[in-house]
Amino acid sequence: MILLPFRSCPIAGGWQAVGVVFLQYISLYTALWSLLMSRTIFITGVSSGIGHGLGTAYLKNGDRVFGVSRRVPENLGKNPRFSHLALDLTDHKLVRRKLPALFGDLKEIDICILNAATLGKFGDLVTGDMEDMQRTMQLNLWANQNILSVLYADGLELKQVVGISSGASISGNRGWGAYSLSKSALNMLIRLYAKERPGTHFAAFAPGIVDTAMQEYLCDLPHDPRFPALVVLRKKRGTSEMPDPQTAGERFLPVFDCFPELVESGAYLDIRKLPALLK
Ligand SMILES: NC(=O)c1ccc[n+]([C@@H]2O[C@H](COP(=O)([O-])OP(=O)(O)OC[C@H]3O[C@@H](n4cnc5c(N)ncnc54)[C@H](OP(=O)(O)O)[C@@H]3O)[C@@H](O)[C@H]2O)c1
Repeated sequence: MILLPFRSCPIAGGWQAVGVVFLQYISLYTALWSLLMSRTIFITGVSSGIGHGLGTAYLKNGDRVFGVSRRVPENLGKNPRFSHLALDLTDHKLVRRKLPALFGDLKEIDICILNAATLGKFGDLVTGDMEDMQRTMQLNLWANQNILSVLYADGLELKQVVGISSGASISGNRGWGAYSLSKSALNMLIRLYAKERPGTHFAAFAPGIVDTAMQEYLCDLPHDPRFPALVVLRKKRGTSEMPDPQTAGERFLPVFDCFPELVESGAYLDIRKLPALLK
């Protein structure tokens, strides 16, 4: 009855009408699972922002975390359940050569979180800098394709993949240019991989707005009437509508566990629309 490879969806219990016996079974199962089996989590972009918040939350949860970023996240490194590889994910050849060593003889990854991304230069496409736009695509799209192909080629079994997308992949607001394009393409990458790899559950996830370096850059841009979406962001900064990365990381943990039960593999989900799905 329960999908054994996945931790049960703890937030769904409050929303779905399930029997008491079933709930007891889930509680017992979850407690036993936590005691006996810590999960293996792989996070890209683990040195700051959402990736760092997620890494901290998974370690606190007792899970084993493998992370990649160019900078070393010193505070996570003190935890014996954390392994890190300093890599520039846009160097695809280097990633192919070095990434497998991070996992040693590990056979499976429970959740692979493709989080590393860049916003690139914010502004109109018509004046866009081609090199910057290509860098954005390299990291936000092709690095993820490369990572997945390396992991599968290495024989690792991936149970769940979460591609961190963005509302910008859908909204088409002025100024988000290459970032929007890259996140739309990421949504499709996730859908295509879902077809190729039916043994893995894939989802593209828009995390809402989180107070990270990305938001700092956007909120610090000078006021420009061409980009009204920035006014909205500035208003939300410092409020509960823009949580800090640690708060967001802890919030996302149980949410990710629900994806295999909530949506078909390859779907795009936005945290702001999740309550409707859980009803
Ligand atoms: N913050 C938001 O409000 C928001 C909203 C929607 C979607 N998102 C998405 O959430 C994810 C995380 O964003 P964030 O706001 O947390 O960003 P962030 O604070 O800028 O963190 C980005 C992470 O990616 C890593 N990274 C950047 N370039 C890299 C490269 N070439 N190679 C390896 N790692 C690289 C960075 O580490 P190093 O610099 O150490 O390499 C860092 O750990 C992104 O996919 C973003 O699109 C964020």
